[in-house]
Amino acid sequence: MNENINTIIMNCDEKGAISKAAVTLRKGGLVAFPTETVYGLGADALNPEASTKIYAAKGRPSDNPLIVHIADTYAVFKLASHVPKKAVMLMEAFWPGPLTIILPKKDIVPRETTGGLDTVAIRMPSHPAALDMIRQSQLYIAAPSANISGRPSPTTADHVINDMKGRIDMILDGGAVGIGIESTIVDMTGDVPMILRPGFITKAMLENIVGAVTVDKSLTDSISDIKPKAPGMKYTHYAPKGELTIVEAAEETDTPDNSASEHSHQNHGSAHSYITRLSVAKKINALIAEKKQQGFKTAVIASAENAHLYNCENILIAGEAASGETIAAKLYGILRECDDIGADYIYSEAFNRGKLGNAIMNRLLKAAGQRVIKV
Ligand code: TXA
Ligand code: MG
Repeated sequence: MNENINTIIMNCDEKGAISKAAVTLRKGGLVAFPTETVYGLGADALNPEASTKIYAAKGRPSDNPLIVHIADTYAVFKLASHVPKKAVMLMEAFWPGPLTIILPKKDIVPRETTGGLDTVAIRMPSHPAALDMIRQSQLYIAAPSANISGRPSPTTADHVINDMKGRIDMILDGGAVGIGIESTIVDMTGDVPMILRPGFITKAMLENIVGAVTVDKSLTDSISDIKPKAPGMKYTHYAPKGELTIVEAAEETDTPDNSASEHSHQNHGSAHSYITRLSVAKKINALIAEKKQQGFKTAVIASAENAHLYNCENILIAGEAASGETIAAKLYGILRECDDIGADYIYSEAFNRGKLGNAIMNRLLKAAGQRVIKV
């Protein structure tokens, strides 16, 4: 891997930035760009050499397929050999937006882009700079998250610069992204749509449009030897260098897809809930004291509401427990901060409440290598 490419960095709003990105993509180059979920690392999806360059720049295993980003719905019919009615209904409901749809691929999509699969993942992002860049390039843009493989996905241009400067041709800086975790992936190749990766678009939101939706078994079963249908989901993603452990109250197990609780503080305010929060904090504080005594550097990932309960040199505030949006937006940045601090042991509260609880815990559990202590 040549790490000495002169990476051009331009603000999305700078004159000529988007057209320069488009020209770079047309030449088979690599451009990192903002989307509403996380930053993507784009290349011409129909050019096998360009796709191959993405894998090299990320250090990504070549069996892990890329998502093809489009700017107009008709592009789906160029890329997919069969588009079921339910897929069209989801596209109409959620595009542009954080939903990726898996469909059988047409021959024009090279296997370099699909990691050797006969299916293709397609998404229309809603970020205006992303849409403008795709349109101006007149291409379909293959783009994984713009991080080095195994690191948390980038949610700011600085994250991208840290990982990719010198490895790619250009970075479009669009500031901090809005959502902060990757798109929901739904497989539309079977009879019943199946969620392969949870995200901002929840199961309930999908079912509202197309009826019954299933979830890939590897996401719900705690036995981890089931092979996920999205090849990328099997890798230990998002992991900070230190050892991350989630400490969770046994009573407060998930309230998946419970959008009603998203903005409700009633749970949070009860005496019972306060005792639960204290018991988590007590356990975490004990673990920290123990590691500190052994000479290790520690960090805590906590909600704003609970931060004052901890006795630690590094308290990283993930957002407000009652608002999944704020946690999702900050989570990856905080995992990167753990590395910047050089934390050896990191303890996190569980953030399983509200509409985004599922997606957040899916990423956090991976970052923790599934290490959970229940108190
Ligand atoms: O929000 C997002 O989806 C971001 C932004 C940049 O759009 N992209 C992203 O890409 O998260 P990446 O490469 O980090 O994750 C793509 C996931 C991987 O888990 C991959 O295995 C899965 O999508 N995937 C891609 N094509 C697939 C296919 N044909 N069948 C099953 N899974 C697929
Ligand atoms: Mg990724």
